[in-house]
Amino acid sequence: MGISEFTPRVFSGIQPSGNLTLGNYLGAVKRFVEMQDDGIETVYCMVDLHAITVWQEPAELAHNTRELAAAFMACGLDPERSILFNQSQVSAHAELGWIFNCVARLGWMNRMTQFKDKAGKNAERVSLGLFAYPSLMAADILVYHATHVPVGEDQKQHVELARDIAAKFNHDFGVAFFPEPEPVIEGSATRIMSLRDGSRKMSKSDPSDMSRINLTDGPDTISRKIRKARTDPFPLPETPGELDGRPEAGNLVRIYASLADMAESDVLRQFAGKPFSEFKPALAELAVSRLRPISEAMGRMLDDPAEVDRILAEGGDRAAAIADPILDRTFEILGMIRSRTRKR
Ligand code: AMP
Ligand code: TRP
Repeated sequence: MGISEFTPRVFSGIQPSGNLTLGNYLGAVKRFVEMQDDGIETVYCMVDLHAITVWQEPAELAHNTRELAAAFMACGLDPERSILFNQSQVSAHAELGWIFNCVARLGWMNRMTQFKDKAGKNAERVSLGLFAYPSLMAADILVYHATHVPVGEDQKQHVELARDIAAKFNHDFGVAFFPEPEPVIEGSATRIMSLRDGSRKMSKSDPSDMSRINLTDGPDTISRKIRKARTDPFPLPETPGELDGRPEAGNLVRIYASLADMAESDVLRQFAGKPFSEFKPALAELAVSRLRPISEAMGRMLDDPAEVDRILAEGGDRAAAIADPILDRTFEILGMIRSRTRKR
């Protein structure tokens, strides 16, 4: 099913597993805000059911979910204009996830590179949920008939799997029910790299805190991390093409461009020939000026957790109002008897 027959709707999710990074902000949340401001219907989810594919301390999970909700809003997501909620409050995700476990093929799941990276040598000991996770992710998207999914580069393969699942379901049951959603991966910041190693993604799970900037870092920490970021001994070049083969330098230029909403070529026009000892303080100042209002707003919102929970409840109700009829229709297509009138 092409997506042109469906009303455009945006869905994306982030795991509430702590330490939201500059990579999450520039690669995902900043673009969630732009899509909200474009006037499309936007649904954004704290995917707590995904988070528990690896062990989460219960009290920390609750805190991290509220912190992620606060970060979403501090970055500019407006709970009136976007639907904001945590996944486990809308049971349709888990229910459609199971159905998709029966649609997706083992061979497809075996090709997921993120599972291979995360499981590594431990593949026998990780949870079954970690392996099945892309099928739950497909359910997250398709239970809203979402057409567009803003994500960083690392999630592209999972969105493509959601397309395959939608197509197979439609084909198996002879329906034109699920859209094939498109990943939206654009801009300079689709893959922000570690500050310590330009070949690795900046990640909340990197053991070194110096490798990333967290949205909760204060100005001094941000400046110190940028000052200590790995670079090379050469000055900044004149054109983006000359950054090929200089991963750390390229990463810092892309971070600058994305924070300043500038093209990389314009950043280089400004800094060509300058050493990192000049570029890094400018980058630190820019990062602090962009991130300080976010961490301050997060702090204020977390002072009132009951209000955060109220917003998530309201978002959950609005999300369920879209998802439940789509799930009901899916059960019907499958031939399942749905004769109860009181569902819960
Ligand atoms: P995760 O932190 O893995 O739950 O990712 C949440 C969202 O942020 C996903 O859309 C990722 O693709 C995106 N993301 C995570 N890390 C980065 C990064 N280093 N650069 C760009 N996007 C990222
Ligand atoms: N798998 C995504 C990540 O780890 C999070 C996620 C879960 C997601 N469900 C989603 C992203 C649906 C987009 C759409 O980053």
